[in-house]
Amino acid sequence: MVSMVKEFKMLINGKWCGAASGKTFASINPFDEKPVGLFQQGNEMDARKAVQAAKNAFMKWSEVPAPKRGEILFDIANELKDRKQEFAELISLEMGKPIIESMGEVQEAIDLAYYLAGEGRRLFGHTTKSELKDKIAFTVRLPVGVCALITPWNFPISIPAIKMLTALVCGNSFVLKPSSDAPLCATRLVELIEKHVKLPGVVNLVTGPGGTAGRELITNEDIRLIAFTGSIETGAFIRQNAGLKKIGLELGGKNAIIVMDDADIDLAVDGILWGAFGTTGQRCTACSRVIVHEKVKKELEEKLLKRVKQLRLGNGLDRKINVGPLVNESALKKTENYVRIGLKEKARLLIGGKRLKGKGFFFEPTVFSNVKPGMRIAREEIFGPVLSIISVKNLDEAIRIANSVKYGLSSAIYTESIANAFKAIEAIEAGLTYVNSSTTGSEAHLPFGGVKATGSTREQGIIGIDEFTEIKTVYIDYSGKLQKAQID
Ligand code: UN1
Repeated sequence: MVSMVKEFKMLINGKWCGAASGKTFASINPFDEKPVGLFQQGNEMDARKAVQAAKNAFMKWSEVPAPKRGEILFDIANELKDRKQEFAELISLEMGKPIIESMGEVQEAIDLAYYLAGEGRRLFGHTTKSELKDKIAFTVRLPVGVCALITPWNFPISIPAIKMLTALVCGNSFVLKPSSDAPLCATRLVELIEKHVKLPGVVNLVTGPGGTAGRELITNEDIRLIAFTGSIETGAFIRQNAGLKKIGLELGGKNAIIVMDDADIDLAVDGILWGAFGTTGQRCTACSRVIVHEKVKKELEEKLLKRVKQLRLGNGLDRKINVGPLVNESALKKTENYVRIGLKEKARLLIGGKRLKGKGFFFEPTVFSNVKPGMRIAREEIFGPVLSIISVKNLDEAIRIANSVKYGLSSAIYTESIANAFKAIEAIEAGLTYVNSSTTGSEAHLPFGGVKATGSTREQGIIGIDEFTEIKTVYIDYSGKLQKAQID
């Protein structure tokens, strides 16, 4: 039987082309397990060709004045805005999240595109005084060069958009290697972007396995920056194999919501539900631990359970559902395995714990109570709809437990006390702290990233351009004589 599934190409040097391997792979809709497209199985050869193309194109693009690059981003933003619904449907189709969340994700990409378009007229350096007479000093930003952008499937539009658009406005060329679980979204987004950029070789797309195409990008001598969002294992591989390249990493979390005894419990339940089960728990910023004051534990659990029971699972494209499927079979197995671990560790299963029978990678929203901070379900990133509730006696204990994991991306505290809130803001080791709001939902014009094993770089916002630029310090001496700093 002839396959009716559409085949997509990779973009190298301005041409849409097949992979050197001659092979393709399918991207699967996690709701019905049907292929949504066939994609090129790129390998080292394809990645090398793409890097070469980006290297050749770099100069031309970096010479386009930054405000002009910003205008191009503005056009990209406008087109993305016009096609918001279409891109949102692609997200839900390819990775399963509810359409309302997909619309939010495309909006995030649109916001970023407009924000970064403005950056074309900023890209600020700074000026300061020299310690010597007749000498001035200032800094300028220069592009880094050819970037390898390696992106995950859980935000298949907004994360590639952040990296591609920041790279572009700063004057870099790049090769994008998206996750093999979401190449369709990446391909459609690259099509849109390259149409506006117009210079062949600035924007390149290589699809295929991390072990071949990805590895080549990580080790290739002509790559100057690797910007990666994904698993801690791949992040560690990048650190070990990237040599002296610049590296931006965002490697997940084990994010806690602290609920104090003075909190508005209904508000906290809203936030926990959204943070833990939105995107089926498959966000780096997902809430996977609730650290609750023992005085309000019972009330919180009762209210939470009532709400979890009402969650409707189904096709992300169906507006009436709240929770979509997990992305693939191995995510399902991983989640199942963590539930087994939780039961073995003697945590109390309050609700859920099983995969759904039939087609699609569905797992019940799951809540464990009586979780101890040392248990694996309280320490390891599950990336599925599994929440652990830990009870504590006071805020100090809550913060100690929040900080006891290796990650440090997001965090939240529900409290009516200003003192509690500020204590949490100062003491929680994380890149983000939300007060009386959930752990997810960053905004385009504010920095995003984490500490500890999550990584150390920031994307988005005013310092998001630091990763994609090099700062050069310039000294101009107009004294007409040799002046020696620290000596004259
Ligand atoms: C991620 O899961 O890798 O705030 C990032 C949020 C999203 C980003 C998630 N804007 O949850």
